[in-house]
Amino acid sequence: LDAATDYETILVTRYGPALVVTVNRPRALNALAQQVVAELLDLTGRLVEALPSVDAPAAGEWVCRGVIVTGTGEKAFVAGADIREMSGMTPEQAEAYARDMHRVTLNLEALPVPVIAAVNGFALGGGCELAMACDFIYASENAAFGQPEVSLGLVPGFGGSVRLQQRVGVGIARELIMTGRRITAAEAHRIGLVNQVFADHAALLDAARDTVDTIAAQAPTAVANAKATMNAVAHRSVADGLDVEAAAFRAAFTTEDSRIGRDAFLSKESASFSGR
Ligand code: CAA
Repeated sequence: LDAATDYETILVTRYGPALVVTVNRPRALNALAQQVVAELLDLTGRLVEALPSVDAPAAGEWVCRGVIVTGTGEKAFVAGADIREMSGMTPEQAEAYARDMHRVTLNLEALPVPVIAAVNGFALGGGCELAMACDFIYASENAAFGQPEVSLGLVPGFGGSVRLQQRVGVGIARELIMTGRRITAAEAHRIGLVNQVFADHAALLDAARDTVDTIAAQAPTAVANAKATMNAVAHRSVADGLDVEAAAFRAAFTTEDSRIGRDAFLSKESASFSGR
C-alpha cells in the first residue's frame, strides 16, 4: 500500500484507522477520467489483495480498518464520468470504460472492511454510482445527487441501474433516472440514499472516521463476515438468502473473535478481539 502513493488523480492518506481515498481533479469537479478509473482500479485491487492478510498486525503496526471515499474541495464529490473524454469514445471504448469502473465498484464491495462514501458536493452520474458502491453514504449539507445521463442521451453506466433500485426502491430510482432530476442532501437523506448529513466536509470526514473507529472496536472477522453475507444475499430469494446467512453464522462460530466476544459478555468484561 505504501507503494500506492504515486497516483496523479487520486490521493491516498490515513485518518485515524481509515484509509481516505480522495478523487483529486478539482478543475473538472473530480470527474472520473479514464486515468482516475485506472488508478482506482489499481488501488482497490491492491486493497483486495492486502487487507485480508493484515488481521493479525505486529505491535504498533497501522492497520486499515475502513476506507473513506471522498472528493477534493467543497464543491464536488465526483461530477460523473468525464463527458469531455466520452465525446471521443467509440461504443466499444465506452463499454470498456464502464466495465473497468464496474471492477472498481466490485472491488470496494469485496473489501473486508467498511467503505464509507463521504459526499462533499456534487455526486452526479458516475459520482452517485461510486458513492453507491460504498457500504453507506454520509453527506455534507451542500451535497447533490442525481443520475442525469438521460439528459446526455446516455444511461447510467457505472452501476446506477442496478444499485439505485436496490438503495431507494424501484419507483424512486426509476423517477430519478428517467427525469435526471438532481436532489439535495436533505432529500437524499429522506429517501434513504444518505444515512446522515453534516455541516461541511471537515465534519463529514470526522464523522466517517468516528464510524470507522466504532466499527474497528467490533470483531474484525464478524464485520467482514457480515459484509460478505449482506453482499451475497442481496440478489437472492429469502429462502436462498437464509441459507447463505446460516452458513455465515456457522462460520462465525469457528473464529476466535466469537469465543472472545461471548466470553467477555458472560464475564461482564469488554472484549479485546484478536482478528482471528
Ligand atoms: N466531465 C468533464 N468535465 C466536467 C464534468 C464532467 N462530468 N463536470 C464538470 N466538468 C468541468 C466543466 O466542464 C468545467 O470545466 P471548464 O472550466 O474547463 O469549462 C469545470 O468542470 C467546472 O464545471 P462547471 O463550470 O460546469 O461548474 P458549474 O458550477 O457551473 O456546474 C455542475 C456544476 C452542475 C456539476 C456541472 O458541471 C455539470 O452539470 N456537470 C456534469 C454533470 C453530469 O452530467 N454528470 C454525469 C456524467 S455522465 C455519467 O456519469 C455516465 C455514467 O453513468 C458513467
